[in-house]
Amino acid sequence: MAGAAGQQQWSSRWTFLLAAVGSAVGLGNIWKFPFEAGQGGGGAFVLVYLAFVFAVGLPVLMAELSLGRRGKMSPIGTMEKIAKEEGRSKAWSIIGWSGVVGGFIVISFYAVVGGWVLAYIVKAFSGFAGFDAAISTDTFVAYISDPVWPVVSQFAFIAITIGIVMRGVKGGLEKAVTYLMPALFALLLGLVIYSAINGAFAETLTFLFSPDFSKLTLDTVLNALGLAFFSLSLALGSIMTYGAYLTKDINIPRAAIAISLADSAVALMAGLAIFPIVFKYGLDPAGGGGLVFTTLPIAFGQMTGGIIVGVLFFFLLAVAAVTSAISLLEPAVSYVSERLGADRKKVTLYLGLAAFLLGTLSAWSQGGNILSDVKILGADIMGVKDYLTNNIMMPLGGMFIALFVGWFVSRKNMMEELAMEESTFRIWYFLVRFVCPTAIGAVFVSILYNTIVG
Ligand code: PHE
Repeated sequence: MAGAAGQQQWSSRWTFLLAAVGSAVGLGNIWKFPFEAGQGGGGAFVLVYLAFVFAVGLPVLMAELSLGRRGKMSPIGTMEKIAKEEGRSKAWSIIGWSGVVGGFIVISFYAVVGGWVLAYIVKAFSGFAGFDAAISTDTFVAYISDPVWPVVSQFAFIAITIGIVMRGVKGGLEKAVTYLMPALFALLLGLVIYSAINGAFAETLTFLFSPDFSKLTLDTVLNALGLAFFSLSLALGSIMTYGAYLTKDINIPRAAIAISLADSAVALMAGLAIFPIVFKYGLDPAGGGGLVFTTLPIAFGQMTGGIIVGVLFFFLLAVAAVTSAISLLEPAVSYVSERLGADRKKVTLYLGLAAFLLGTLSAWSQGGNILSDVKILGADIMGVKDYLTNNIMMPLGGMFIALFVGWFVSRKNMMEELAMEESTFRIWYFLVRFVCPTAIGAVFVSILYNTIVG
């Protein structure tokens, strides 16, 4: 993919869909969703998350794809161009800026977790025989607390991402997503069945699907909102950049619905595979970011063919993570190459290395690692980056995207991009004009109110 974003196009409708699903489905669904649902108390969090995915995330997803296809540039270029076309202030490009910068921050810690996944592929080769809750937890904590290996694996993950982004979206991505994403889906389904038979499944169903609203706090609502955006890859320019490579004949609403369904299905499946093991072995559902790494190995250690299943699972999870990481790096790469007219390969290399350097701080902030004592407002470095992007930049970015398409782009132009029936268009329009801004705004205002008054 040479030069500016607009010069590149997907080779077919199917590849676009797979690439977008590849971006959406990743660590957000399989690593983040289960542990945040666990920390958020289960059912109520899941329900709020799903409501945000469909009532707020989906309409914003349609908006971002439309803006991307209209602008055909990097997120910053696209926002400038459309604002100008619509006779609006250039200040709207802040949406693009926040996306490019936010994406860069996310990839810097995303690659650390991606590195843990790579390390677990290697561990899975020797199997997890005899793993119980204690051994599994110790193994994970020992890995993330080592000063050297997590950085090595983070580097490996970023290097793979750089390699693919350098070759351009088509060169690197299409093959991976065509076969491997469906394979991940199938394997997850297999794991859900395994857990249903061998784990504490009834308890899991109650935990995940019978909401106890007394467990819901404003902070968990904000987490769920942020996670809805994070897992759909919204507000960081990723989906807008992918939209820029879209041809006119693609039906955006239909694609967006398919992406949201696939995305939430994978998150729920991950929950259904992981929590039966959590409850059976007495692990802490609210134990945090190690959940997927401490639970599934126990199951792999016990099942027949567990070595193969374990290796395959972590391999496919790594693929899902890489296809998301690509879309996190792509907006910054497309912006810098567009603005400087610089060689795409070099831009990718330098930006990727910069993200790696920034990411080492996150790697060292985990477990008992060398920077684990550095706390900012009670959170470690990785937690701070996560909070800043997931809970602030993404919801706010989403709110501004909704406001922009709802109130500042002409109705006619949005109608043309979305090509929907008038009656369904009206639903979308109502959601972006009123529901998305109010819902996101209300969460923020209540939190501010609580902080100041409470
Ligand atoms: N959606 C990806 C995941 O769930 C992460 C991501 C966020 C990718 C934002 C791009 C933009 O893992």
